[in-house]
Amino acid sequence: MTDTLTIRRPDDWHLHLRDGAMLHAVLPESARHFARAIIMPNLVPPVVRGEQAAAYRDRILAALPDGMSFEPLMTLYLTEDTDPDDVAAAHQSGLIKAVKLYPAGATTNSASGVRDFDKVRPVLERMAEIGLPLCVHGEVTDAEIDIFDREAVFIDRVLDPVRMSTPELRVVMEHVTTSHAVEYVVSSEVGLGATITTHHLIINRNHILAGGIKPHYYCLPVAKREEHRQALLVAATSGDERFFLGTDSAPHTDANKEMACGCAGCFTASNTMSLLAEMFESKRALDKLEGFTSIHGPSFYGLPVNEETITLTKGSPVEYPAKIETDDGPVTVFEPGFPLHWRVS
Ligand code: NCD
Ligand code: ZN
Repeated sequence: MTDTLTIRRPDDWHLHLRDGAMLHAVLPESARHFARAIIMPNLVPPVVRGEQAAAYRDRILAALPDGMSFEPLMTLYLTEDTDPDDVAAAHQSGLIKAVKLYPAGATTNSASGVRDFDKVRPVLERMAEIGLPLCVHGEVTDAEIDIFDREAVFIDRVLDPVRMSTPELRVVMEHVTTSHAVEYVVSSEVGLGATITTHHLIINRNHILAGGIKPHYYCLPVAKREEHRQALLVAATSGDERFFLGTDSAPHTDANKEMACGCAGCFTASNTMSLLAEMFESKRALDKLEGFTSIHGPSFYGLPVNEETITLTKGSPVEYPAKIETDDGPVTVFEPGFPLHWRVS
């Protein structure tokens, strides 16, 4: 029986760090284990221009505690007014590693997102030319589409047409939650990758809704039926290079989660590596963990893998704090509902 596992230091290919007091509190939770992360640009106001991404990057680095190493990989928030030249310059200087597409109204702080995809075609074409990936929040926002179907409908109505009309564009379908998305990624030939979150490997929609409503399990895209969670687990543990970790760790204060209209997001930065080790072990796939957390992502983004390593050891259950304290209020750490035996030493 394996009880230690040494892997290359992991990266997080989808992370919300926020700003101000929240940034200061959550950044060490990621930097403790992760070497790099793709930083989501959905601040208020969103990070839409290169100069804003540069300033945000400086605030992140200034918030990093002494002695910790962490590289924020910046992104720009795509709007209908995004200037292709600004995007190209931010890419050329090495500042940004991706552009993020939120359909308008899809999720937290996405009001500036895209409504008319024809308006962003020049930006997408430029990105295809320069090899800059598009990270996609894959849900339609039409009120008449059932929230559990929004990802599957997005593939047919938006993602596939965008990929067909800009075939050279590299796309990351983020936080996939359905077997439809897994099948779409697997059937694609080139230029498509997908991130899978920690929490979508663990919860299905019952966790949110059965036995009382559990706001800390509510995130977007919302967790689906058990058969979809199983499809995600198979994809994550398959060794298929097209799937890699993007935690989508998305902190909100308890006050903002536990209310009549609560915010979407699960906070998994603190305990993700323990959670993943437990899930991969349950699939007898611990040997596939390093690919998922540390190799497939850099390979998609054309970045070097990390040379440092981390070691996970198995033993008596590891305790993580139930909440982290921030100057904005407490943030609940994702609770899987089962003991965790793997700790990062
Ligand atoms: C994210 C957030 O809070 O910023 N929430 C979430 O449920 N994932 C937004 C997002 O990435 O959809
Ligand atoms: Zn997100």
